[in-house]
This record gives sequence, structure tokens and C-alpha cells, in this order.
Amino acid sequence: MSARSVHITTFGCQMNEHDSERMLGMLDALGYAPTEDRDAADLILFNTCSIREKADDRFVAHLRQAAAVKRRRPETLIGVGGCWAQSVKDQVFRQFPFVDVAFGPGQVHKLAEFLTSDSLTAQGFFEFEGFTGHLPARRARDVQGWVQISAGCNQRCSYCIVPSTRGREVSRPLEELVDEVRGLVADGVREVTLLGQNVNSWGVRLRPHPSTFATLLRELDAIEGLDRIRYTSPHPQDMKEDVVLAHAECPSVCEHVHLPLQAGSSRILKLMRRTYTREHFLDRVALIREHVPDCAITTDIIVGFPGETEADFQETLEVVDEVGFDGAFTFIFSPRRDTEAALMEDDVPHEVKVARMERLVELVQRRAHERAQRFVGRTLEVLVEGPSRHDPSRMRGRCRHNKVVNFEGLAVPGELVPVEITGATSQTLTGELSLVARAAAF
Ligand code: 5AD
Ligand code: SF4
Repeated sequence: MSARSVHITTFGCQMNEHDSERMLGMLDALGYAPTEDRDAADLILFNTCSIREKADDRFVAHLRQAAAVKRRRPETLIGVGGCWAQSVKDQVFRQFPFVDVAFGPGQVHKLAEFLTSDSLTAQGFFEFEGFTGHLPARRARDVQGWVQISAGCNQRCSYCIVPSTRGREVSRPLEELVDEVRGLVADGVREVTLLGQNVNSWGVRLRPHPSTFATLLRELDAIEGLDRIRYTSPHPQDMKEDVVLAHAECPSVCEHVHLPLQAGSSRILKLMRRTYTREHFLDRVALIREHVPDCAITTDIIVGFPGETEADFQETLEVVDEVGFDGAFTFIFSPRRDTEAALMEDDVPHEVKVARMERLVELVQRRAHERAQRFVGRTLEVLVEGPSRHDPSRMRGRCRHNKVVNFEGLAVPGELVPVEITGATSQTLTGELSLVARAAAF
């Protein structure tokens, strides 16, 4: 097979990054090597996201560049996968006639079918089939792996496009997941991140053997050689005591929970159809802190939801202040097609939304900065990722709390090393490799 090259651009969430790794793994088997050079690639792929409008706009600009490449080299193939492709379906070809293949998030394996078929005329694949088959992933990092435990979402958050792009929730069977993680560990993986739109509702509707997310955590924790388990994202409604206890009792489950708040006002939460109140959210945070006292808690927050008053927004600020998140992703509400919230009357002027966002970010950062000081003077276990982005003379990795740690000292990517923390900002920790702790460990 002649060597061919693929250039892939990924937008959106970790689920998409994982799907992209699987696409590259599958393409590897078909003789496509990844390239950084889009202009020279035989296959230009986009793995798209539609969670917010901005992602759409950025993607369209990229797609136009790909079209220019195809004008110069007409044999270049252009593929568009992921949520945005799913949300517009066959319109992709009408809007962008130069696209050769388009497929939804469930159809990554169809890309292989397309590339190996005799006729490369434009085709789209948008059925929900649950899982993307069992594709080998081409991992970006040797020791970190992603595992998709469920697809789709049964919630109906009024702002969210996911239920219409990724369909109803389907969980993968327990044994299959345990086998997959065992295989990853045998392959050198030390940290896995379990992915799903609502990870902690995993298993409940599995037939013939219903299960629970807490059981899954315990089964995976028992795998010899697996050092770290992460998961994203749980839903506050399904964050029950059994999950928190499994989290507390399983040594490999990291001290970090990403628990999306979205809004601090129960009135707005109701309009968002989030199915919990401000009090319930605070109660879940208290439960986590009771059993996992040092747990880092991060969140997602949307500002400027239709009808959000200054008083509602104040409630969001209050919750942020009270919880003291270790970090937060903050978003200005963006109406998405086919969602209930897109039809709601939005009377909050854009400037007000932007001003609220600034106030929110300021508070999030101040609290995250304060929270991070608790690490200074401690020695944390860091999984080394590579050289630091800003200063290549230092190394970069992540601690179990999911903070980036930049540190001085010799270490190899993939190693778990003790780092003495000397400084902390809202985003990153700095430190030095602890030779004493390292020597003691051997
Ligand atoms: N507008 C703004 N933010 C959104 N998110 C999801 N949909 C929207 C939207 N329509 C945010 C939520 C979610 C995160 C992944 O993206 O906070 O948790
Ligand atoms: Fe969207 Fe809500 Fe499902 Fe998350 S839980 S994917 S926000 S519908």
C-alpha cells in the first residue's frame, strides 16, 4: 500500500479528541500516516463540535482553507465528522460541495468503509448506532488513554444540542470496559479517563445485567498496574453516595471531580431543565468534601441564559464563592438549533452578558488562586507529560488534582514523580522534583 497522509483538526470536547485518536488508529491500519501539513495531506479530516456557535465559525474558516487545497490538488479527500456534521446532516454537501465524506459521532468506522470502497463519490453516514465499533486508538500520549463508557444523553438540558446530535444514552457492558482497560494497561497506559455525556448514569439501563458507575469504578480500580482513573462529566443529579464512596475508597480514582453547575439560581436551573436545585448542588459538594476532603472540584457555568436577572446572576456568584472551585469553564449562552432554549425570549443584552462573564471569571480565578495555595509546601505525585510549554528547560505534568505542574529536574514523559510544590496560581503549580521522595520510593 502506498503511504498516504492524513491531517486532522479536532474541535470541542475530550470525547472528540478520543474519537480523533480512534480515527487515526483506524487510518493507520489503512496506510494513512498523520501529518502536520494540511497543504500536503491526501486526506483532510475535521472532527467537529457544535456545542457553541464559536466552534462552528472557527470550523467553517478551516473548511474553506481545505477547499483551497482541493482546488490546487483535486485528488485531496475532505472528510467532516462529529457533532456539527450530525446536526446538519446532508446539508453539509449542499453547503460545502467539496466535502467527500461526512459522518456523525457514531460512524467513525464508516470512514474506513468509505475509504476502502471502489467509488469515492460523496457519502454521508448519520444513523445512530451507539458505538463506533472497536477501533484501535492512536494515542497522543503513550501512558494516557481515553475510554468511552457511554454514548448519547437521556437528559434534556434546554440549552444543549447533544441529545439531538448524539442520541439516547447507550452504555457499554462492564466486561467489555474492564477488558479494554486491561488491554490499555498491558500496552503501557497508567491513566485512563472515562468519557460520557453523563458518566454516572452509566450502566443503569444495561441489559441483561444492569450495573452502576460505582461498580465500574471499583472494577477498574482492581486492575493491577493502573495508577489513575479520571472521569468526565458526571451530572449532579446522579452524583449519589455510592459514587462518592467508590471515589473515596478506590486508590486509583484521582482527587478531582468536574461537576457542572451551569447556574447558581434554582429558577434558572429549572429553565435549563437541569433537574437539581442550588441546594442540591451544594449538598453534593459537601458530600464529596466529607468523603474526599482534599478533592479538587471544577465546573462549567453558563452566563446570560435567557431571562437571567441580576439577582439570578448574583446567586451564581454566591455559589462560586461558597464552593471555591479549583477551576471553571465559563460560557456565554449561545442558542443552538433544535434546542428549547433557542426559542426562549432572550432579553439580556449582549453587553450585560459580557460584563457578567468578566465578573464571573474574576471571582472564579480569585477563588481558584486561593484554593491552589493549599498545595504549596506539599509533595505531589505528577505524571510527566513532556517539556513545559513556556519554558522547555522545565518539565510539565499533572498532579492527581488535575492541575498542570511545571517543575525543575530530570524526568521522562510517562513517569510518575514526586514534585515539591513551591508556587501556585489559579491555573498552574510550580515546583521542583523531590529527590528525597523519589529516592525513598525506590
Ligand atoms: N451555550 C453556552 N454554553 C453551553 N454549553 C453547552 N451548551 C451550551 C450553550 N448552548 C456548555 C455547558 C456544558 C459545556 C460542555 O458547554 O456549560 O457543560
Ligand atoms: Fe447536554 Fe445536559 Fe446531556 Fe450534558 S447532561 S450532554 S448538558 S443534555
